[in-house]
Amino acid sequence: MHTKKQILDLQVIKHTSLNNHHVVLTCTSEKKLPKLLAGQFAEISAGDTAGTFLRRPFSIHDYNMEMNTVSFLIQIKGNGSASIGSLQPGESMNVILPLGNSFCMPAEGEKVLLTGGGCGVAPLLLLAKSVIAAGASCDILIGARDEENLMETEELSELGTLFTTTEDGSEGIKGFVTDHPVMQELKEKYSKVYSCGPDPMMKAVATIAEESGVDCEVSLENTMACGIGACLCCVTETTEGHKCVCTDGPVFNSKTLQWHN
Ligand SMILES: Cc1cc2nc3c(=O)[nH]c(=O)nc-3n(C[C@H](O)[C@H](O)[C@H](O)COP(=O)(O)OP(=O)(O)OC[C@H]3O[C@@H](n4cnc5c(N)ncnc54)[C@H](O)[C@@H]3O)c2cc1C
Ligand code: FES
Repeated sequence: MHTKKQILDLQVIKHTSLNNHHVVLTCTSEKKLPKLLAGQFAEISAGDTAGTFLRRPFSIHDYNMEMNTVSFLIQIKGNGSASIGSLQPGESMNVILPLGNSFCMPAEGEKVLLTGGGCGVAPLLLLAKSVIAAGASCDILIGARDEENLMETEELSELGTLFTTTEDGSEGIKGFVTDHPVMQELKEKYSKVYSCGPDPMMKAVATIAEESGVDCEVSLENTMACGIGACLCCVTETTEGHKCVCTDGPVFNSKTLQWHN
């Protein structure tokens, strides 16, 4: 049973610039934060900037119940993310959270593979921590255009063996995530694969997982408006009919998605 969503003003306590167009904002709240699960997201108000009337969805990057902190990894794309990503310690932002479902946790003793492309790495930090808290273990495979865009490598490598790929070969194996040799060993090594990133990457990861007979969960990033199941602008076709990515997802078992058709 998921926690009831809340509208909260969060205070930014840390702004970490990862590279030219990605930041991590660590935030706290005067009120106790609701329990947040890996795979869930928040709808963040982008303030009064022109063209940013709608809130923007961002995954829960990290959550610390004892410290009452939550963090978001923000890629600066357009006006909304630029406004949110420019927030500095002491400033506040209005959020609705927690939204969406969450990744299914593996059973104790299982070993799973987490895959992420670009800023799809955002939900993987809390996912890796949650997998470990569930008594399972993980390896993590992340890919990016180049070394500069491989993010959170230090944090992730503390949680499992970290494999990397870059399209220009500046770090790790040259190519896409799916070109990494570990993708050919799914059945032997892992009980499950999780994937987050651009659609073509998740489709390619899911195809290899399905061919290997390994379960795969993906986190979709369909464009959203309301984030609460009211506007239907985020629907995706599944084996059980049309589903709202914001309320039925964003996490889906790859086999239920009709994206191979
Ligand atoms: C469930 C979910 C989780 C996400 N998690 C993260 C995350 O952790 N880190 C991160 O950097 N990004 C994440 N995104 C994508 C992020 O929401 C968009 O990059 C952001 O909304 C763009 O807003 P903008 O005003 O900067 O860009 P705009 O100028 O509005 O648009 C730039 C691009 O972003 C896309 N976009 C715009 N609005 C949305 C929207 N509401 N939903 C999805 N895509 C949109 C547009 O199609 C366009 O290609 C997530 C998206 C979803 C749906
Ligand atoms: S974003 Fe409105 S229904 Fe999903």
